[in-house]
Amino acid sequence: MQHKQVKPRVWAIGGGKGGIGKSVISINLGVALARKGHRCVLVDADLGGANLHTMAGIPNPGKSLRELFTKDAGNLSDVLIPTGINNLGLISGAHALLDIANPKHLLKQKIIRQLFTLDADVVLLDLSAGSSFNVLDFFLAAHEPITVVVPTPTSIENAYHFLKAAFYRRLKTAIAEAEVGHLVDQAKEQKVALGIRTPREFLQHLAETSPEAGAAVSEKMAVFRPKLIVNQVRRPEEIALGTKMSTACRGYFGVEMNFLGGIYNDDKVVLSIQTRKPAMKAYPQSSFANEINDIMANLLANKVEGGRV
Ligand SMILES: Nc1ncnc2c1ncn2[C@@H]1O[C@H](COP(=O)(O)OP(=O)(O)OP(=O)(O)O)[C@@H](O)[C@H]1O
Ligand SMILES: [Mg+2]
Repeated sequence: MQHKQVKPRVWAIGGGKGGIGKSVISINLGVALARKGHRCVLVDADLGGANLHTMAGIPNPGKSLRELFTKDAGNLSDVLIPTGINNLGLISGAHALLDIANPKHLLKQKIIRQLFTLDADVVLLDLSAGSSFNVLDFFLAAHEPITVVVPTPTSIENAYHFLKAAFYRRLKTAIAEAEVGHLVDQAKEQKVALGIRTPREFLQHLAETSPEAGAAVSEKMAVFRPKLIVNQVRRPEEIALGTKMSTACRGYFGVEMNFLGGIYNDDKVVLSIQTRKPAMKAYPQSSFANEINDIMANLLANKVEGGRV
């Protein structure tokens, strides 16, 4: 019997910095979802450094996003491959050429649109490092834009930079859509005199001086609901970084950032990459698996509409 196709929820994993566990978290969340019976498609959107296929134990994916970019034809679903795990498919980014790591705007928009039409319950995007517009556009399109941070000063710095870049990209669109660019320019000019120090104060000022414009922009910004995961925790007190960053985000941007949970540094993760078998599959009873399951449950419980507007 054929199941009825529902629109998938789109989750995107970013974070600004390389090597912080975005791909590890993506693949293991994918396996966790599949094990619970949720049909999941993993999309390796890290075109410059795709490696989800290797983590999934697929040395040569055969089909990948490369075809879509080079031929500029076909659909995302044409390059979907099985992973050998029930309920889990993969759209690989393998063998992408360097020039398609920066796809053209229209092609990128087409791929983003198609993500929302895939036949799955959850579409999970593994993003590349950095805060380029390409990464941000995938991140902002998702219902659940998830930032990964590890407890090191460099990662924290990159995570804030990434969130700031995402916030301003979203704000720019919101201002254009609400057609209030002139009011924003006025406020910007008087920023120092008005004592506006943060984006939150800027939005407050806009709401006070022009309630209609303020409401229009705030309404569009309200859908920006980033989430946070703290990875590679070594000491329990490092978990507090999650709530600290959420509080800072509220104060500075006026944006609610849910802290989804922490993941401890675990040698099983390293071993699972060496053996090319996701830790969630190889060690389903481990504390790592429990942490991933908790984060998945938090994400599934959250049905607040966000993302594409
Ligand atoms: N929870 C963890 N415990 C132990 N090691 C981890 C954990 N998370 C990530 N790692 C280690 O960090 C390495 C990098 O992880 P991963 O490839 O997922 O990072 P990434 O953010 O996707 O990097 P890139 O931006 O380069 O794609 C892994 O190969 C693994 O060795
Ligand atoms: Mg990666």
